[in-house]
Amino acid sequence: MKKAALFAALLALSFGAQAGAQLGDMHVKAGVKCEVCHGPDMKNPEYPTIETCTKCHNTKDLVAKTKDVKPTNPHTSPHYADQLDCTNCHMMHEESQNFCAQCHNFNFKVP
Ligand code: HEC
Ligand code: HEC
Ligand code: HEC
Ligand code: HEC
Repeated sequence: MKKAALFAALLALSFGAQAGAQLGDMHVKAGVKCEVCHGPDMKNPEYPTIETCTKCHNTKDLVAKTKDVKPTNPHTSPHYADQLDCTNCHMMHEESQNFCAQCHNFNFKVP
């Protein structure tokens, strides 16, 4: 599978430098093993999808939790409802990003 091969190449390049840092590191400290997000074979790690995250973080609960965030709820929108891939904002081994800021003036602080 091409995506897996590319990901393995990325892994080889960046392992050590960034792996396990930041939000990913926080998960590891909370007891979430690398394999929970990347699949059993860390030589051919899978790229996490929204399904990976929603095994533990229920989307409906998330939408409810952040319903009062101003200027708008980051976990639902007229464009993507609650189905926008989490890693558009929450990066695990690098700085998180405010995906909506490409087009909107929303000053979200993304953990
Ligand atoms: C095996 C369960 C599990 C999986 C899978 C998981 N998480 Fe978490 N996540 C946790 C736990 C445990 C915490 C610690 C805080 C808590 O108790 O909610 C947490 C916390 C977080 C936080 C809050 C950080 C903060 O500063 O408060 C974010 C954001 C988050 N996860 C995003 C994600 C994303 C994005 C994914 C998918 C790439 C993901 N999680 C996958 C269990 C999981
Ligand atoms: C558009 C960017 C964006 C996307 C996409 C996104 N989030 Fe968030 N998330 C945020 C922001 C911003 C916050 C902080 C909200 C606040 O200020 O309280 C947050 C907070 C969180 C928290 C902490 C909630 C709390 O208060 O305890 C978790 C857990 C989380 N997100 C998980 C996820 C998961 C899982 C997904 C995918 C289903 C996801 N997020 C998608 C922007 C995003
Ligand atoms: C909570 C889920 C989660 C956990 C736990 C996690 N990762 Fe990741 N990992 C991701 C996501 C999502 C990406 C995609 C890029 C990003 O978010 O930084 C990624 C990307 C990577 C990459 C690709 C290059 C890079 O640095 O961005 C490597 C290497 C990696 N992870 C290694 C690890 C290792 C080793 C561990 C255990 C110490 C680990 N990951 C634990 C979710 C996770
Ligand atoms: C590619 C550009 C683009 C991105 C990315 C984008 N939007 Fe929008 N959004 C628009 C446009 C264009 C409109 C319609 C014009 C308007 O009302 O501003 C709109 C309208 C909206 C509206 C209704 C009008 C308003 O401003 O209250 C909301 C709410 C919204 N977007 C939320 C979001 C959220 C949340 C995200 C991130 C998850 C996001 N958008 C990402 C372009 C974008």
